[in-house]
Amino acid sequence: MITEATKERFAREVAKYPADQKQSAVMACLSIVQQEQGWVSAESEAVIAEFLGMAEIAVHEVTTFYNMYNQRPTGTYKLNVCTNLPCQLRDGYKALHHLESRLGIKMGETTPDGMFTLQQSECLGACADSPVMLVNDRCMCSFMSNEKLDELIDGLRAAEGKA
Ligand code: FES
Repeated sequence: MITEATKERFAREVAKYPADQKQSAVMACLSIVQQEQGWVSAESEAVIAEFLGMAEIAVHEVTTFYNMYNQRPTGTYKLNVCTNLPCQLRDGYKALHHLESRLGIKMGETTPDGMFTLQQSECLGACADSPVMLVNDRCMCSFMSNEKLDELIDGLRAAEGKA
């Protein structure tokens, strides 16, 4: 549910653009919803569409174009492994497959304890550091050998008291 406080945050984003270009704030509004709720539901898209005077499908097109917007709830830690071509050539898939086997899930799935969601990602702009990944859309991890991936998973589990 989108609260009045959330709509006030939307309004602050809208105020950054000319009055006849409210829809320029669509990405910011989607980010606010994701920050607050962890994902962007169709209901949230509808509220944003109405707030910005856009068609719901136009908001949905933005949500689905950028893979950092979650279209369903994710685990506590969303792990996005880059598998674009430069990373593919330098062990991107090896890293993804290692995580699949380590976590016991396939790409796109969430572990049964709700801790990890594993996804592929588009180029993260750090091809020379491959394999690279992003944790929760914020923390970039470079040169992710199988050993470093194991350390990361162990560290996150320990931080959650699930080691
Ligand atoms: S292709 Fe993976 S970071 Fe560029």
